Parts: sequence; structure tokens; C-alpha cells
Amino acid sequence: MKDFIIIQENNIKEAIKSLGYDVDIVKLNVSSVPSLGDYQYNGSMALAKELHQNPRDIANNIVEKLDKRDIEKITIDGPGFINITFKNEALINYFNDYELKEYENNNINVVMDYGSPNVAKALHVGHLRSANIGEALKRLAKFLGYNVIADNYIGDWGRPMGLIILELKKKHPDWKYFDENYDGDYPVEETVTNEELEYLYPIASNKAKEDELYLEEARIITNKLQHKEKGYYDLWQRIVEVSINNIKRLYSKLNVEYDTWNGEAYSDKFVNDVIEYFKNSGLTKISDGATIVDVAKSDDKLEIPPVLLIKSSGAVSYETTDLATIWDRTRNMKTDEIWYVVDNRQALHFEQVFRASYKSKMVSDNLKLDFLGFGTMNGKDGKPFKTRDGGVMPLETLMNLVKEETIKKINTNFSDQERENIADILSVAALKYADLLPVRQTDYIFDIEKFCDLNGKTGIYLLYSIVRANSLIKKVKENNIDFNNLSKIKGSQDRDVLIKLLQVDSVLKKSMEEKSLSFITDYLYQLSKTYNSFYDANKILIENDEILRESWIVLTTKYIDVATKLTNILAIEIPDKM
Ligand code: ARG
Repeated sequence: MKDFIIIQENNIKEAIKSLGYDVDIVKLNVSSVPSLGDYQYNGSMALAKELHQNPRDIANNIVEKLDKRDIEKITIDGPGFINITFKNEALINYFNDYELKEYENNNINVVMDYGSPNVAKALHVGHLRSANIGEALKRLAKFLGYNVIADNYIGDWGRPMGLIILELKKKHPDWKYFDENYDGDYPVEETVTNEELEYLYPIASNKAKEDELYLEEARIITNKLQHKEKGYYDLWQRIVEVSINNIKRLYSKLNVEYDTWNGEAYSDKFVNDVIEYFKNSGLTKISDGATIVDVAKSDDKLEIPPVLLIKSSGAVSYETTDLATIWDRTRNMKTDEIWYVVDNRQALHFEQVFRASYKSKMVSDNLKLDFLGFGTMNGKDGKPFKTRDGGVMPLETLMNLVKEETIKKINTNFSDQERENIADILSVAALKYADLLPVRQTDYIFDIEKFCDLNGKTGIYLLYSIVRANSLIKKVKENNIDFNNLSKIKGSQDRDVLIKLLQVDSVLKKSMEEKSLSFITDYLYQLSKTYNSFYDANKILIENDEILRESWIVLTTKYIDVATKLTNILAIEIPDKM
């Protein structure tokens, strides 16, 4: 079924063409003054400028030629705005068998890089946005017909690994892992737990900052690990396994899922190919013992430093590993685009990596490398969110805080276990919705009361609205009331719901264009609010006019359909009751 608004836009396009003018894109906008009409076309002005004519005359001509089958009222206002009100009958016809459907496959292959935490370190609030935005963007892209592979590019290979192994060695010097002459399998009791890793890592990291010798020891271990020396490599595998299991547990609470977990260690396999490629490209230079690649351009406003391909110590940099990842993704996976959902503060790193990729022709110009930076979650002081004592707040602690707040909103008639389960869903919804609501690139402030407000622009309000509509349909079914046809509306609040529903496709497209879920979260709020006004103003189930009652029930299913699918795109779960 063709989108209603697209049909109307095509009609306008036809009218314009029949006047002998030429336009590529005709866009109808939602009217900002609903009393003037449902939608507005404001292209007459641009056309008039081009043709040196009066915009009102142009608007008049368009209106005259326009197929007005679906139009109730059309006016020309101001300098040449065309305001359109659709016929109720046209809306009813369109929505009667409407269902929001996934788009056809567009044959665009995308690799998405999001989440990407570092192994052995506790996930903290800073890891929330990449996972949330990335997961939702993936679901949106799939809905719109893209083929997506989601990769969790975990940091499992650099110095942090050497540090944690060193600290384990200090703590358990007798472990077989550290016995160079040991040749057997490693005893199961010599194993790390996630708690131990998360506890030891900060200790190791602090020691390394203060103690040059300690740091040197860690470097040596990192080197042994990177040469896959027995013992160290085996212990590393255990560490990664334990840590990934914990990361998976937390991500599953957030409904975040991946296709691959190809982290830095995996990419390391391609590092030599990349280095060789760059050396052959003639772009490398030696500077202070390091191998570098210049990526600055003459028109740069900010200085873009060279890519450090091989450090003077012989180690490779974060840039090199990312280049190796691109090497793999573009050679061994079918991909047209790679999207990186990473903190804004890494923008420069990606600028360098992308420039080096294109400049060296390691990737073709047709391949799109897209850095999708996001802003941070800040505390009320405007600085990145911290615990009361100034530490970084573990993600799980944050999730529990929100859970405590949401449990207050749940019906006290439910059993404790039920309330607990619902609170799990609601708290994740509150957190995710708040995280996706601001435009991607902007920072936002963590405000627990605001995020959990039952009457605000929140995940809780959204779920409450959907749950209430769902329970209406449940009652309808229990009472064996038929609901097949949307054939009548009263023409006020019910009509507003249909008009809001007309926007869904443009919202999805806009969201993809800007790669920001903010358009969807905002729309879901507007849509739910419109539906709730209708719900509150009418007694749907006891409406005497049976045809109207049936239509209203069907209208409710349309709201549920769109709201549920969009909520699912956001990777927010909907409870049965709350
Ligand atoms: N592990 C990195 C960090 O925690 C983020 C990785 C982002 N992705 C990438 N391909 N570099 O900062």
C-alpha cells in the first residue's frame, strides 16, 4: 500500500508538471497551525523565485490543476502557502486496512560498530548511549530494508590487558599460567571472576600511572600476550570469556544484541597486511622512530595530526587497529557502509582513520565510513555523570537506581514478584527512552525523577499508554465484540489520531537521515498523547453507535500497531500490565 502522504505529494507533482514546470521533490509538511489545515505545501515560493513569477499565482495554478479527490478544503494563505485538509472519508479508506510494514530490501549492506566496551573494566554510564543508540539504529535500519551486521568491537588487546594480567600475577604468583615450564592444561580452580577483574583493573591502572617499573612490566606482558605466549595467552582467553559473559548479561537487560564480537584482538590479524599496504602506498614517513601517515589537508580549520601507524616502541596504535578492522570489514564482509556509534570525543580519531583509509585507497570512495558521534550523559553540574564521591558510576548501579524509582509507579495490587519483573522492564524503558530522546550529538542531564515521570515525555508514559490501549483490546476480545472495520469517525480527537498516524513514514525516514532516534521518541510521545486525549474524551466500550464503537476499536489497534513497532525499534520492551 502506498503511503497516503506520498500519494498526495505525487498529485501535487503531477499538477506542477502539467503546468509545464519542473520540480524534483515535492514535500508536504505537517501544518504548524492545525486550524489552517492538516498539511501544507510551501514550494510555490521557491518555484516563483525560479520562474520570476508571483508565488500566489503559482499556488493558484497548482490548486486549480490538483487532483482534489481526497481533499476537503484547500486554501492559499500568506505569500503562497497551500494548506490542505483531507476528507475524513479518504483517511478512513486509507487506514481501514493500514498496517505499518517493514520496507523492501534496499540491498545496502552495513556493518555497525557500537557498544564496544573494554574487556575487564566495569561497564559504566559512558557505555550506555553507544549500546542504546546503536541497537535502535540497527533495528531502524533493518526495518527500512538495510542488511546490517552488528559488531561489538570490544577492546581486548591493548595495554589494559597487560595491566590486568600483571596484577593477577602479583596476586597469584603461583598460578600455572605464569610458570613458563608448565605444559599441561590449566587447572579450573585457577580462574578469574568478573568481580575480581573489575576490582583489580583500577588498581593496576593507578599503579601504572605512578610506577614506571610497574608500567614497564605491564608492557613486557602485553608484548608476550601479543606474541601469543603460552600461559599469558591462555589466561587472557579466560579473562575475555569471563568479561564477555558479564557484558552479555548486562546488554541482554538492555535488549542489545550482536551478530559478531570481533574485537581488537581479532583485528590484530590484519595489522600486518595494513602496515604493508601503507608502506607500499608510499604514504608512510618515519618521524622520531615512528612510522606515520600524514592526513592533513590544506583547507583544514583544525590541525589534524598524522596517523601513528607504528609507534617508536614498535607497538601499533588505536588508529592502526581500526584501520585493520576496516581492512577486514571491507575485504571479508560484503559491506557498503560502516557506521560507528561512538562518543563525540573520539571524532578526531575517526577523522584520521577515515582520511587514511581513503587517501591510501585502502577503501574505495564509494564505501561510506560514517562516524555517528553522540553527546554524553551529564550530571546536574553539566559534567559527565559521576557518583556522589566523584567516581564513575557502574552501569548496573545506575540501572538499579532507576529501578528503585520506577517500582514506585507500579500498581500495588500486584504481587512483589510481578512488581519486580515489571520494574525491570520499566526502568530499562525509562533509561533508554531518556537516552534516545535528545538529538544524538547533544549532551543531556541525568535526572531520575524526570526520566520516570508518568506524565512526562518518558518511556514510562509511553508504556503506560500502550498498555492501557492493549488492555482495552483485551476487554473487547473478552466480550466478543467484533472489530473489523474502520468506517466512521466523529471527526475530532479520533481524526487527530489518524492525522498523527500519517506522519509515521516521514518520521522513520527523517530519523534515518539524521541517524538520530530523537525523532522517533518525540513522535511516539506526540502520537500517544493524541491517542490518550481521544481515549480520555470518549467512552469507547460503551459507545451506543455500534459502527462508531467498532471504528474506534479498530483505530485503537492502529495506534497499538504503530506504537508497538516503533517501541520495538527503540529496543524497549512492553509489559503486559503495569
Ligand atoms: N573500546 C573503545 C572505547 O571504549 C571504543 C571503540 C569504538 N569503536 C572503534 N571501532 N574504535 O573507547
